Amino acid sequence: KLPKFVKVVEVGPRDGLQNEATLLPAKDKIDLINRLSDSGLKTVETTSFVSPKWVPQMGDNMEVFAGINKYPNVSYPCLVPNVKGLEQALKVGVKEIAVFGAASEGFTQKNINCSIAESLERFRAVIEEAKKHNLLVRGYVSTVMGCPYQGDVDPEKVAEVSKILYDMGCYEISLGDTIGIGTPEKTDKMLTAVKKQVPVEKLAAHFHDTFDKAISNILVALEHGVSVVDSSIAGLGGCPYAKKQAGNVCTENVVYSLQQLGIETGIDLLKLKQIGSDITTKLKRDNMCLLE
Ligand code: HMG
Ligand code: MG
Repeated sequence: KLPKFVKVVEVGPRDGLQNEATLLPAKDKIDLINRLSDSGLKTVETTSFVSPKWVPQMGDNMEVFAGINKYPNVSYPCLVPNVKGLEQALKVGVKEIAVFGAASEGFTQKNINCSIAESLERFRAVIEEAKKHNLLVRGYVSTVMGCPYQGDVDPEKVAEVSKILYDMGCYEISLGDTIGIGTPEKTDKMLTAVKKQVPVEKLAAHFHDTFDKAISNILVALEHGVSVVDSSIAGLGGCPYAKKQAGNVCTENVVYSLQQLGIETGIDLLKLKQIGSDITTKLKRDNMCLLE
C-alpha cells in the first residue's frame, strides 16, 4: 500500500534559511545547495524572488541562483509571488517556480498582503507568463491543518484552493502544515477532501514539526498514496509569519524513516548527515537530526 519510491523535496535553502536569525552569506548558500544536489536529492528549492523588505534573508536570490551548479537531473525551484518576481527569476534562468497561496485569509494577508481571491488572480498571471517561457510551476497551499491567525481551517477550503491552483497549471500541489499543528487524524481528513479534487499523484506533503508530529502525519499521507515529501536539512527554518517557531520536518529523519519502511529515495543519508552537521555548526543552531 505504501509507495515504493518517494521523492524528497529539499526546502532548507529557502524555507529553512528564510527564517534563520543568522544571515548566511550567498557563497555559503551556494555551497549548501551544491552539496545537497550532490546527495541524490532530485529537487532542491533554491531561493525566493520576494520583496527583500519582507524577507531580507532571500535578498541575494539572483546571486545565489546564478552561482549554483545546475545538475541536469536536479530541479531548482524558486518561490515567486508575482510577475515582478517572475521577471527577476527569468533573468537568471530559473526553470521552475513555485507560487504560494494559503487556505486561510488571515495567513494570506500577513504573508503576501492580499486576500485569497486576489492571490489567485496574481498567480494566474504569473502562471500564464511562466508557461510562455516553458517553466514548470509548483503550487503551495499553506495552513492546510490550521492557521496561526484564525485557528481551524476547513479541509474543503484546502481542497478548493488546491484545485484552483491545479487547474491553473501547477504540476504538483504541496500541502503546507505551516505551523505544524497537524495530527494524523487531521491529515487524514484533509487529504480525504483534497484527493476528491486533485489526483493524489499530484500532491506533496509539506509538514512542519512543531509538535513532533510531522513523521506520523507523513506516514498517514503515504498511506493515502502521497509520494512526494518536502523537508529541510537539519530541520532548518519555518515561516516568518507564523508566530510559533515551526521548523520544517528534518530531511535526515524523513529519509531514515522512509528507509526503515523499505521505501527508496535514491539519497545518500551519510552525505545528508554531514551537510546537516556542517550547516548547523555554521548557523550555531540546533540540529534536529535524530541519528547518531
Ligand atoms: P506588497 O508590499 O503588497 O507589494 O507585498 P507591492 O507590489 O505593493 O510592492 C511593495 C514593494 O516591494 C515595492 O518596492 C515593490 O517593487 C517590491 P518599493 O517601491 O517599496 O521599493 N516588490 C518586490 N521586490 C522584489 N521581488 C518581488 C517584489 N514584489 C514587489 N517579487 C509581496 C507583496 C508579495 C511582494 C510581499 O508580501 C512579499 O514579498 N511577501 C513574501 C512573503 C514570503 O516570502 N513568505 C515566506 C514564503 S511562504 C512560506 O514559507 C510557506 C511555505 O513554506 C508553505 C508552508 O509551510 O505552508 C511555502
Ligand atoms: Mg514551509
